[in-house]
Amino acid sequence: MSRKRTVVLISGRGSNMTALIAAASDPTYPAEIVGVISDRANAAGLGIAQSRGIATKVVQRADHPSKDAYDAAIDAALTGFGTDIVALAGYMRILGRGLVEKWQGRMVNIHPALLPAFKGLDTHARAIRAGVRIHGCSVHFVTPEMDDGPIIAQAAVPVMVGDNEDTLAARVLKVEHRLYPLALGLVAEGKARMEKGHTLFAHFADDADNATSVVMAPDPLREERDLEQLARITP
Ligand code: GRF
Repeated sequence: MSRKRTVVLISGRGSNMTALIAAASDPTYPAEIVGVISDRANAAGLGIAQSRGIATKVVQRADHPSKDAYDAAIDAALTGFGTDIVALAGYMRILGRGLVEKWQGRMVNIHPALLPAFKGLDTHARAIRAGVRIHGCSVHFVTPEMDDGPIIAQAAVPVMVGDNEDTLAARVLKVEHRLYPLALGLVAEGKARMEKGHTLFAHFADDADNATSVVMAPDPLREERDLEQLARITP
């Protein structure tokens, strides 16, 4: 099996990046993390990646005369890493249409909400304000419209009475760290792929569990139960 060469784009903390690196440290995982690109020189994730022996590169918008030149530099960095798959993980810029279309089907993102609800920023505060009882995260293929691409996998968590933005964010982040490796694995293995604006799933003939699609409501008392199964409840 040839593992898919994956580059992670970050802007900050890099905890999802760290979860992907951890998953990929298993040689049987179908993706390997070959590089990390940040648009901020002070992103904490850069140091973490370096400490794991992963090549890093900083590509700052301010160092480029135009958005197109910036996108071209990102593209060149991706090509330089011999990239098969791009994983956006807390990368806070919107990439231009040309770049996104070039990598379409090979570029994924994690968003801290159950899309298509709560696209954009401040998802946890908005979820609390909206009074939803279930919140979560989504991994999707990247398309030119922000947070709009076809969904690959989702995980749900309950919104508890008394939650604030921070407690809810922490609960979602925990499942992000499980969902992203699972979703990247599906893409790297070719079990989930983008076609005509939709995610197509391979028939999981080799795994009876995977073939079973169930609907599961989160149990507030055992919120982590069967999350991987839950994550497979996809469109
Ligand atoms: C995560 O909540 C991710 O879903 C969102 O930005 C946050 C990044 O956190 N896109 P980290 O840098 O992965 O710790």
